[in-house]
Amino acid sequence: MNSEAIKDRDEVEERKVFKYLNKPESVRENPTGLSIYFADKEVELVWYRPGVVRVLIDDRDDFNRKPSTPAVVAEHEEVKLDYLYNEEEVRVLGPELEIGVQLDEFGLLFFDKDDNLLQADFPGQAYGFNRGEVEINKVLKSRERIYGLGEKTGFLDKRGQSYQMWNTDTFDPHVPSTDPLYISVPFYLSFDGELSSGIYFDNSYRTEFDLGAEQEEMLSVQAAGGRIDYYFMAAEKARDVVKKYTWLTGRTPLPPLWSLGHHQSRYSYYPEERVHELADRFREEEIPCDVIHLDIHYMDDYRVFTWDEDKFPEPARMLTELGDAGFKLVNIVDPGVKKDPEYSVYRSGQLNDFFCRYLDGELYTGDVWPGESVFPDFTEEDVRNWWQDLHQEMIEQGIKGFWNDMNEPAVFNENMTMDEMVEHKNDGDPGLHKRFHNLYGLFEAMATSQALEKFSAERPFVLSRAAFAGSQRYSAVWTGDNRSFWEHIELSIPMITNLGISGLGFAGCDIGGFTGDSSGELLTRWYQLAAFMPFFRNHTTIGSREQEPWAFGEPYTSIIREYIELRYHFLPQIYKLFHEQSRTGLPVWRPLFFHYQDDEKTYNLSDQVLVGDNIMLAPVMRPDRRERLVYLPAGNWYDFWSGELYEGGRSHLYQAELDRLPLFIQAGSSFVTMEPVQYIENSFSDLTLNIVLVEDDFQFRDNIYEDDGISFDYQNGAYNLTEYKVSADENGIKVEFINKKTGYDSGLDNIQVRILNLDYDGVKVTFNGNVLSSNDYIYQDKDLIISLPYQQEGVMNILAL
Ligand code: GLC
Repeated sequence: MNSEAIKDRDEVEERKVFKYLNKPESVRENPTGLSIYFADKEVELVWYRPGVVRVLIDDRDDFNRKPSTPAVVAEHEEVKLDYLYNEEEVRVLGPELEIGVQLDEFGLLFFDKDDNLLQADFPGQAYGFNRGEVEINKVLKSRERIYGLGEKTGFLDKRGQSYQMWNTDTFDPHVPSTDPLYISVPFYLSFDGELSSGIYFDNSYRTEFDLGAEQEEMLSVQAAGGRIDYYFMAAEKARDVVKKYTWLTGRTPLPPLWSLGHHQSRYSYYPEERVHELADRFREEEIPCDVIHLDIHYMDDYRVFTWDEDKFPEPARMLTELGDAGFKLVNIVDPGVKKDPEYSVYRSGQLNDFFCRYLDGELYTGDVWPGESVFPDFTEEDVRNWWQDLHQEMIEQGIKGFWNDMNEPAVFNENMTMDEMVEHKNDGDPGLHKRFHNLYGLFEAMATSQALEKFSAERPFVLSRAAFAGSQRYSAVWTGDNRSFWEHIELSIPMITNLGISGLGFAGCDIGGFTGDSSGELLTRWYQLAAFMPFFRNHTTIGSREQEPWAFGEPYTSIIREYIELRYHFLPQIYKLFHEQSRTGLPVWRPLFFHYQDDEKTYNLSDQVLVGDNIMLAPVMRPDRRERLVYLPAGNWYDFWSGELYEGGRSHLYQAELDRLPLFIQAGSSFVTMEPVQYIENSFSDLTLNIVLVEDDFQFRDNIYEDDGISFDYQNGAYNLTEYKVSADENGIKVEFINKKTGYDSGLDNIQVRILNLDYDGVKVTFNGNVLSSNDYIYQDKDLIISLPYQQEGVMNILAL
């Protein structure tokens, strides 16, 4: 027997030590569900809302209904329940979901309203306990696929793998076996081609999700501590599970519009002259850019909340000058505070007892960039308030956003993090680091985004490397230290898509690759895909080759410029999707099966992605490739570049020269664009509604969202929401505009409606019955472009002559 096999056997042995809940002593109906009693444990089923049930197991003599982590923000609603009893089972019948409580070998069966079995606990081994560890086991159905789980490498479908939830600064190249990484989200979406459901396991301890790796038909979740506390979510459509999950854990509020523009970063740009040179070069090259990030060298010997006065002698002046040129600056802030008695942040933190300590009072220190450092205990509100205030000066100087790095927290030691025995005070509910580790980044981002809200009247922008369930309420995320590998372009699609499924929809990766030297072709292909990434930033490490958009000369610079312009061209559409994400939780980047749920070919399609529900990218991700196979789901697809219609339901070999991103729009849909700008000033510079026709009759509805892009006024109604209904038949095309809200004066007088590929020989256009003069529309290329007063309600008809 080899050592691997011995290890396996040991693991199995160890597993047997778990004691599983078996026969309940009694059950009792309660106003929100059912309580099930065992010798020392109680299981409570709580209907949170239709289709969402919490399963909470705690000690009978100390039953605590508080959510286990700060991820959960929803309160339970009142729902009406019915109960059916027989000897083996109590059936609780609730809206959208029924649960069969098995009384012999305790376990739960989850059914949808049509009595389809969505999920079953593993018979005899459903809920296990072993010296503080807890375990849940579920049956994996034969066709079941698993998505989500936060930031994981590999393909879209995670079945057959096993993953750890333990935020880790992993510098090793991110390959399929690299796990864990910086972000942990203990949520998964299950989909078998028909039925969909999800589980959010509200436990922040180190947790392993075995998705059929050890036993093909068992999904096992094992946490190193804490309680069994999970939320089961049922929905008819896979994408609706994500809506429910983000109802539970919160959604990404609308970010400032500029933060959806192009970001440029490097480890690090300094001194001030170099930042100016960089900014000037963007404007000279006419390559759009909104944001520059300052990495750790702006600080005085890596002391957070300081500037190196030699490199940046007058930050406020510099920030005003850069601001006048349209640049917003984002500063990195790591959690480690240099242990230096002469440093004010260390002093005030120490005097107030704000840093993490061991139980016996010893201060915890660890090495990070500044050398020996201490770590704020962000679980405490007082500490977060203090941390917020430390941001005030920089915000007043003109810093517009913050980048929270190293907040797993990363420490340069063997464990790569803080000692698990360090204590966190957590506002009166203390616990060891092993409980709070995965929450550290979330708490820091919470403090940072609140600092921006407090000291500026603007929407916060925070970028965080570590995150947990619920972090979407506070920060954007990126996938950490990737490499300048072609494989890492490819990796970014399933990674960012699964982050979105896990609620973290404002996500991106280092364009061009962080470690290693990029190349012209690599950077070009990366930008083509990234032009549509929710978060759009070029970043690289210290000492690597330059990889700004112009770094590799022609033809690359021109092509990259074109794709950055394309980003700004599509910004109204991307913003609309962010607006939708803030309301429904549906991410900007979506797997194809979210909208082609009946098409099995999409279930693990990991090299294409949908932006919203109708724009599809199939990037080239190999060197020297000038063609690729593109799978198009049912319907017709409009080639953004040629205007040609491709037939869906099959694959096409598509020619993609270096300057071509295969980019398709579903026929019978629309998207909103504007003319590219060098940077965002306020809202959109102009608006065009593009309509892609289908040959047959069709109709759809969609909307355009607009606000000032920066303030919170939209929360008080200062926004415009225009709904439009488009239909076409043999009589022509009809577009009906309905103003759902007119609350923001954008200064736009007109909107262009662009009918793509209209093959009428001549047209008559009317608006509210009045015939438009031919000055109001033109044919350009193959498109008809009509100018209409912006936000005027009414019906436009286009008739063939
Ligand atoms: C970490 C970050 C990286 C940053 C570097 C220096 O490696 O992941 O993005 O540039 O630290 O701050």
